[in-house]
Amino acid sequence: MKPVDIGRRPSPPDGLTTERLILRRWRPVDWQPFAALNADARVMEYFSGVLSREESDALAKHIDEHFELHGFGLWAVEVPGVAPFAGFIGLSVPRFEAHFTPCVEVGWRLAAAYWGCGYATEGARAALAFGFGELGLREIVSFTVPENLRSRRVMEKTGMTRNPADDFDHPGVSGRSRHVLYRLARHSG
Ligand SMILES: CC(C)(COP(=O)(O)OP(=O)(O)OC[C@H]1O[C@@H](n2cnc3c(N)ncnc32)[C@H](O)[C@@H]1OP(=O)(O)O)[C@@H](O)C(=O)NCCC(=O)NCCS
Repeated sequence: MKPVDIGRRPSPPDGLTTERLILRRWRPVDWQPFAALNADARVMEYFSGVLSREESDALAKHIDEHFELHGFGLWAVEVPGVAPFAGFIGLSVPRFEAHFTPCVEVGWRLAAAYWGCGYATEGARAALAFGFGELGLREIVSFTVPENLRSRRVMEKTGMTRNPADDFDHPGVSGRSRHVLYRLARHSG
């Protein structure tokens, strides 16, 4: 895969903070609650299925390696006074090839107990600001299956827009491979 030409610019060691959230590097204690949310069928409704403990740990390891490689990634979400770990929100470089890659994606996954509080939107705005500001990206994308209306709503609330001509078949997903693509340019949000 061609690397995204952004150089390696480590995110602040303390992570990003928003009004209610801390987006930070992962800790070993996060892996257990991460496995719990990945084993929840509600959280994984629009993915290929729930993850085993081993699959969840492999994903956490990959997320950590992404931070080492790029300096940024899918931050662990801490909600002070509410939850030491609620899921992840952040930026990642997709590993598959499509008509819009190489690119940087903004993504999110939270435990169901914390849905509906605006956390994903709040964290995504901070991640986008970091991507456009610190990383100097010109564009950030996001994608999901058409039925994932919650996730699409987060994309829309952060100012991302979809052109149906960008819809694509995700090469890494068997079965439900059709995806909608949302884009946000640096000066349009
Ligand atoms: C997608 C996800 C991160 C959203 O987190 P969240 O913190 O609840 O998101 P927010 O509260 O910021 O915004 C959710 C929006 O979706 C809306 N929404 C909720 N359920 C909905 C539904 N069934 N249909 C349409 N919109 C819906 C909410 O009303 C809210 O919009 P509003 O502020 O205009 O009312 C969370 O649902 C999740 O982790 N889902 C499972 C993992 C996942 O699908 N990740 C994305 C993969 S691309």
